[in-house]
Amino acid sequence: MADFVLDISSVEAVPARWLRRIGRQLLHNTLIFDFGAWGYAWMTGNPIWQANSAHLLDAMPARPDPFWVLDLGAGPGNSALAMGEKQPTARFIAFDLAQQMLALAAQQRMAAGWSVQRLAPVRGDAFYLPLADSSVDMVTGHSFLYLLPDYRAVLAEAYRVLRPGGYVAFLEPHAGLVDWSWLLKQPWAGLQISLSLWRIYSWLHRRFSAERLQTVLTEAGFHTVRTEVTLGGFGIFGRGQKS
Ligand SMILES: C[S@@+](CC[C@H](N)C(=O)[O-])C[C@H]1O[C@@H](n2cnc3c(N)ncnc32)[C@H](O)[C@@H]1O
Repeated sequence: MADFVLDISSVEAVPARWLRRIGRQLLHNTLIFDFGAWGYAWMTGNPIWQANSAHLLDAMPARPDPFWVLDLGAGPGNSALAMGEKQPTARFIAFDLAQQMLALAAQQRMAAGWSVQRLAPVRGDAFYLPLADSSVDMVTGHSFLYLLPDYRAVLAEAYRVLRPGGYVAFLEPHAGLVDWSWLLKQPWAGLQISLSLWRIYSWLHRRFSAERLQTVLTEAGFHTVRTEVTLGGFGIFGRGQKS
């Protein structure tokens, strides 16, 4: 007789499920990110968050020639600006659903002295990217996939617009243990608040273990997928390449 193994990893207490559903309905993403844009920009405008964002580019070898990065859920543009500081030949499409976030991205671009050719804010829904097939060299997303009801559909869109040989990199909330003592030692109140809120918000939505992130990126068609836990265990990078 075959062994019967009960997998209890997906069994969850009913009250927790209800709490999550209610929380998700109360905290509607579009409203939160439109009205909370200033607060979000302040919380994430610290050197640790930005240095970490710049590591999205580690998926791709440094390039001397101009190349296009599509930053999905770009928010106030912090991630794109941090990546651009590291790699001056990168050009960004800062793509987001929230108008206020994109207004801030445009302001931050001007404050940094970047032209609109270097960072172009584009409003839209990542489920329907207004870009031709194989049109960008890299697709990034910083704390983005976890918010989406069907992140696999967005990964399919990312795959479509990425040129063959192009790179993909996401930083998402991590499902494993986190090191709160690491966070308390950080000198930035904005980082402490943002990572604490991220932990709560990702409980409502979704977190990724290394195995899950590896699997979803591989199933989306990317190869050489690597994951890396970061930010004291709060975040996890997933990086890969299109054939
Ligand atoms: C947590 S914020 C991340 C912002 C930025 N990447 C950063 O790390 O600072 C997530 C962003 O994704 C955007 N977003 C959520 N769903 C989206 C969708 N379907 N299409 C495009 N943007 C979306 C939100 O408006 C928000 O600005």
